[in-house]
Amino acid sequence: MKPAIRVVFVCLGNICRSPLAEGICLEHLDRMGLRAEFEVDSAGTSRWHAGEPPDPGSIEVARRHGIDISHQRARALEQEDVDQFDFLVAMDRSNAGKIEQFGTLELQRLLLVRSFDPGSDTFDVPDPYGGGTDGFQEVWDILDRAMPHLITHMLHHGRRL
Ligand code: 4NP
Repeated sequence: MKPAIRVVFVCLGNICRSPLAEGICLEHLDRMGLRAEFEVDSAGTSRWHAGEPPDPGSIEVARRHGIDISHQRARALEQEDVDQFDFLVAMDRSNAGKIEQFGTLELQRLLLVRSFDPGSDTFDVPDPYGGGTDGFQEVWDILDRAMPHLITHMLHHGRRL
């Protein structure tokens, strides 16, 4: 069997944005018939919420769009992740900076999800933590627009040997 392409989505807390990115990515892969080609995970640059389920705002916006992310549990990004994942996909430039501090990363493995959002004039997915429903819906829309382009990029650039 062809080895999976391994991707980890990264935000600050791993309770708002990256759990949504993980769920949306899996949903797009299912629809594209590509689920078996990928391993998908998420993590935070902090361990503030380690062990917690996603934020209720993220669970709710996902549920409204027909996907369940409530089983996910937050964890902190570890050196091993930075060494081993084929792609580390940051939600904003601050997250990307933290990933770079691990030090061992080839730059083509570090991506900003918003760079795949057509027409966006920023590289950052806004942090919806502590805000209302609209913020979570905006994150959903951004990630849902970007995801097919990100998946195509990862397919083309493939797996590390
Ligand atoms: P996330 O959002 O990085 O998208 O999971 C946040 C979650 C928690 C905090 C900040 C952002 N916090 O300060 O606890």
